[in-house]
Amino acid sequence: MKKAFNANDQTLTLIQKAALAPSSHNTQPWIFRVSNTIIGLLADRTRALPVNDPDDRELTISCGCALMNLRIAAAGFGYCPQVETLPDSKEPDLLARVTITRASDSPVPEEALLGFIEKRRTYRKRFVSRDVDSVTVGHLVEAARTEGAWLRPLSTEEARQQAARLVAEGDAIQWANPSWRRELAAWMHPRRRGDGLTVPALAAPVSQLVVRTFDMGGGVGAKDRQLAESSPLLAVLGTDSDSERD
Ligand SMILES: Cc1cc2nc3c(=O)[nH]c(=O)nc-3n(C[C@H](O)[C@H](O)[C@H](O)COP(=O)(O)O)c2cc1C
Repeated sequence: MKKAFNANDQTLTLIQKAALAPSSHNTQPWIFRVSNTIIGLLADRTRALPVNDPDDRELTISCGCALMNLRIAAAGFGYCPQVETLPDSKEPDLLARVTITRASDSPVPEEALLGFIEKRRTYRKRFVSRDVDSVTVGHLVEAARTEGAWLRPLSTEEARQQAARLVAEGDAIQWANPSWRRELAAWMHPRRRGDGLTVPALAAPVSQLVVRTFDMGGGVGAKDRQLAESSPLLAVLGTDSDSERD
């Protein structure tokens, strides 16, 4: 029989799993506040990226990734987490409140993902050029829908080219901005620091200097465009409120 949630034993493990989530510039902009069986997830705005992310949009998405990991970990350990998002209008930094009391009677779908939390990595190189089968694409679309978002695969060559052009254009705009480059360089850390975009310790000062000093938008844009054009699957992930805003 499954045991009731033991806050002392298990909270730290759940939070460790949550903190393995991806985050913009690997800023890990989250704080966990524990009170018995309730874990509060707060935005740590001291880790904001004012130039790259002026509205804290990516910061909020990063915290959403940590929330997803927390849900997966809780489900994987046999609990049924109750999640309230933005539970207190007086505390806007409190993005979610997760209550973990009840052992789940039946499997929670997220539990199947537990083993992937530690395997997941951001991959920036070229993908194997092999079609993604339509069943897998359907699962991805459905997974986004379940979470109240939408995923739109770009299936025509015209749409793919357009997206690849936009990626290159975005690179050019960002790299041309010295404040954006300074912010990026400030988050390039040797691996031992834990957060930030990791660079080899010896090369870190040179890499930071190069990024701060030179507009490499042209080269980065061309590479990203080529990667996008050759990717087996390109898709746009968003929510209805994104569409309204744009
Ligand atoms: C909201 C968000 C935006 C991101 N944007 C980029 C990006 O523009 N380019 C990129 O190479 N990686 C991007 N990443 C990936 C992060 O850099 C990555 O998650 C972080 O460095 C930690 O590495 P990991 O995912 O391998 O754990 C983004 C991640 C998140 C959550």
